[in-house]
Amino acid sequence: MAHRLTVIGTGYLGATHAACMADLGFEVLGLDVDQHKIDCLSAGDLPFYEPGLEPVLRRNLENGRLRFTTSYAEAAEFGDVHFVCVGTPQKSGEYAADLAYVDAAIDSLAPLLRRPCLIVGKSTVPVGTAARLAERIGRLAPAEGDAVLAWNPEFLREGFAVQDTMHPDRIVVGLPTDQGAAEHAEKVLRELYSSMTTTGTPFITADYPTSELVKVAANAFLATKISFINAMAEVCEAAHADVTKLSEALSHDDRIGGKFLGPGLGFGGGCLPKDIRAFMARAGELGADQALTFLREVDEINIRRRIRMVDLARHLLGGSFIGRTVGVLGAAFKPNSDDVRDSPALDVAATIRAQGARVTVYDPQAMDNARRVHPDLTFGSSTLDAARGAHVVLLLTEWEEFREMDPAELASVVAEKNIVDGRNALDPEVWRAAGWNYRALGRP
Ligand code: UDX
Repeated sequence: MAHRLTVIGTGYLGATHAACMADLGFEVLGLDVDQHKIDCLSAGDLPFYEPGLEPVLRRNLENGRLRFTTSYAEAAEFGDVHFVCVGTPQKSGEYAADLAYVDAAIDSLAPLLRRPCLIVGKSTVPVGTAARLAERIGRLAPAEGDAVLAWNPEFLREGFAVQDTMHPDRIVVGLPTDQGAAEHAEKVLRELYSSMTTTGTPFITADYPTSELVKVAANAFLATKISFINAMAEVCEAAHADVTKLSEALSHDDRIGGKFLGPGLGFGGGCLPKDIRAFMARAGELGADQALTFLREVDEINIRRRIRMVDLARHLLGGSFIGRTVGVLGAAFKPNSDDVRDSPALDVAATIRAQGARVTVYDPQAMDNARRVHPDLTFGSSTLDAARGAHVVLLLTEWEEFREMDPAELASVVAEKNIVDGRNALDPEVWRAAGWNYRALGRP
C-alpha cells in the first residue's frame, strides 16, 4: 500500500491531519491558499497554538514525508487520496454555514485530476453537501480523473488534536450509493486508518447524509449537555442551591456521565456555536425545523450565562461599572487553546468595557488573537498585571495557572478582594478563608 495523500486546508483540522498521517508513515502534501500559513508550516512553525503538534510537524518535515504547497496542480498530480479539511464558518448575519471554501476546494482540484483518486471530505458540512459535491466532481473532473467521494467527519478537540486524531473514539465513513465505488473507498480508508482499527476503534460505514449528520448531531448533543447543566445553574441560583454538587451527583449515573456537564460561562469556539446554528438553518431548509427548536433554547441558555456574568460583576461593584477597574483572566474560548472565536471570556470583557469599566485582560496563549479581535481592550502581561488595582477579578477561562493562583498573592495587587469564578475552577473555601468575597455561577 503506497498511498500518497494531500490535505487541502491547513487550519487546526488540516494541519493536524497532515502531520499525523505523515507520522503514520504516509507521504503527505498539505495545501492551503494562504501563503503565510504554508510558509509557517514549511518552516516547522504552527500558525496557531496546539500542544504536542509541533514536534510531530517537525519530525515529518525532517524525514521528508511531509511537505506543503499552495499549488492545486501539484496536489492533483501528487495525491491518490485528497482530504478536504477547509473551514465552514457561519455566514455573516445568518445561521447557515458558508460553504464557499469547500466549493472552491473542489472547483480548484477536480478539473486538474488526471488519474483515478479518492476525495475524502472531513469538514463539518450541512447534510446534503456530500451528494452535491459528488455531482460537482463528476461534472468538473475529466474522464481520466475518475474520482470517488467519501465523507469522513472529524471529531477532534482543540487542545487534544494530536491525541484525538491518533486515537479517535470512532471512524465514520459516508459512502456513495454505487457499490463498486463504495467498496473501493471503504477499502482505501480502512488501509489508511488500519493502525487505529487494529487497536479496536469502531469503523462505521453509512450513506453520505448519515455520516454528515453524525458530526452535527454529536456537537448538538454536547452543546445540549452544557446548556442543560447551565439551565440547572440558573435554577440553583434562584433556589440557593449548588450546581457543582448537583452536577457531581448526576455524573455518577452511568446513563448521564460527567463529561460536558461542567457548569459555568458556557460554550464558545469555532465549532459548537456555529454548528448548532447551521444545523437549525439546514433543518429549516429541509422542512424539519420543529425537530431542532430546542437548539435555539440551547443557544439562548448559553448566551444568558454571559449576561449573568456581567450582571454579577456589576452587582458586586454596587450597580455600575463606571470608573471601576476589572481584571479579566482568560481570553481563549477554553484552556490549552489560543482560539478566541466566539469566546465567552472576550465577549464578557468587551461588554463590561462597553459599560464603562477599565478592563485589563490576560491569557497565557491567546493574547495576540484577542488583541486582533478586540483592540479596544487593555492587555496585561501576567495574572498579577491584569488584576492590579482591580475592584473585581473575573476568572473566565480555566487555565491551569489560574486554578493554581495564590489568593494571598493576588490580594496584594487588587483594590478590592472580589472574585467571580466563571468556570467553577477555584475552591471557594480556600478563597473565602483568604478574605476574598468569592462568587461563582450557579452557587450560593
Ligand atoms: C468541539 C467538539 O468537542 C469536537 O468533537 C468537535 O470536533 C469540535 O467542537 P472544541 O470546540 O475544540 O471541540 O472544544 P470542546 O472541548 O468541545 O469545548 C467546547 C466549549 O464548551 C468550550 O468553550 C468549553 O469551555 C465548553 N465546555 C465544555 C463547558 O462549558 N462545559 C463543559 O463541561 C465542557
